[in-house]
Amino acid sequence: TKQKLWGGRFTGKTDPLMHEFNQSLRYDQRMHAADIKGSIAYAKALALVGILTEAERQKIVDGLTVVGQEWEAGTFEIQPDDEDIHTANERRLSELIGPLGGKLHTGRSRNDQVATDMRLWLIDAASKIESELKGLIRVMVERADKEKDILLPGYTHLQRGQPIRWSHLLLSHAFSFRADLQRLQQLLPRISVLPLGCGALAGNPFVVDREFLARELGFMSVAENSLYGVGDRDFIVEFMMWASLAMTHISRMAEDLVIYSTAEFGFVSLSDAYSTGSSIMPQKKNPDSLELLRGKSGRVFGDMAGFLMTLKGLPSTYNKDLQEDKEPLFDVVDTVSASFKIAEGVVATMEVHAEKMRQALTMDVLATDLADYLVRKGIPFRETHHISGRAVALAEARKCQLNELTLQDYKSLNNQFGDDILSVFDFEASVERRESIGGTSRKMVDRQISVLRAALSE
Ligand code: ARG
Repeated sequence: TKQKLWGGRFTGKTDPLMHEFNQSLRYDQRMHAADIKGSIAYAKALALVGILTEAERQKIVDGLTVVGQEWEAGTFEIQPDDEDIHTANERRLSELIGPLGGKLHTGRSRNDQVATDMRLWLIDAASKIESELKGLIRVMVERADKEKDILLPGYTHLQRGQPIRWSHLLLSHAFSFRADLQRLQQLLPRISVLPLGCGALAGNPFVVDREFLARELGFMSVAENSLYGVGDRDFIVEFMMWASLAMTHISRMAEDLVIYSTAEFGFVSLSDAYSTGSSIMPQKKNPDSLELLRGKSGRVFGDMAGFLMTLKGLPSTYNKDLQEDKEPLFDVVDTVSASFKIAEGVVATMEVHAEKMRQALTMDVLATDLADYLVRKGIPFRETHHISGRAVALAEARKCQLNELTLQDYKSLNNQFGDDILSVFDFEASVERRESIGGTSRKMVDRQISVLRAALSE
């Protein structure tokens, strides 16, 4: 019967449930390509220090290439004793090329191997996620560019505050995503640190050239301490923290759109492609896509918190607890990736109801502008705030809008009010006055669009 890779010192059998419990192949097979890539580089490094002849190296590299092709083609046959992706690949290599396969692991441990695989896999996954994030930002920027003329109330405390451009609101979310993009790019140097050549914990006695390995595998640097190299999983934590924050932004945007898609607001409607119905209420069209985006943020945060918990009490270097890094990381990557794509689809296809937004613009959202009007006549803002507040109270008592009070009414509040007060009751003029950097004027929205476009082409 077949021996486990590590079976030499064992006389007893593994408990069947323990065997299951210990197995990670069902999820770590996702890293098959990274594992093969790392092994090919390692075989080359072994040849460079004379542990393998050129011919042996070539045979091993060819064998590994075949194993990789089997995974790609879906023909790799998993055996019951394959514990993880590393043992499975090594077992298959030896089947293909014989005992020579047993030379590959010289000086290497699954400890430096798995840490290398995880980093390689994540570098690749992060770059896919980066393009998905850019896709989302791009759609938001294009939409903002096309819908610059649409105005709506900006809210604080979900109470109408001041008029803004719809594009300004969309772009506010895009700027959160742009910060996520920067943060993701800044993670890379800390993910891209090579553990291979750290061995089990103490380093590599065959003195493989680790800088060669880093170049072969595209790593930016080499782990300078072997204990750190095999034991560090901070790059996974950091990525999951990054993802938690990005999902928080997805969730907050989703919440805005959930609110705006109610009949009560009616500012947007989701396309059928991103909505679902009710099993009992025939009229329903629910924004399930948005609710899932909001809901999945909790799941990502949970993956992060759970894995931090796994790490916190561990002694130095490799402990099997670290095998628990995979499922949460893979779940986070899958969830974030799907969320960015769904969010992009929702934003690209939703309908925006400019008329509804316009109707929500009641005159009271110009009360700040009314106060500002008197400021321009030289009255201190604290006083003009009060005067404008009294105008609001008067209109409320009369059950009319601010622009329906007479000039006489205004003059009774303050004699500086004049005919030109009419200029205040103009939503477009109000947004156009906000023309310092960051404001909601057309020019400043255009500026935001160019800043974001530049970030996308970086
Ligand atoms: N499957 C293991 C993991 O994912 C690989 C490393 C095993 N190393 C060991 N010494 N048992 O962490």
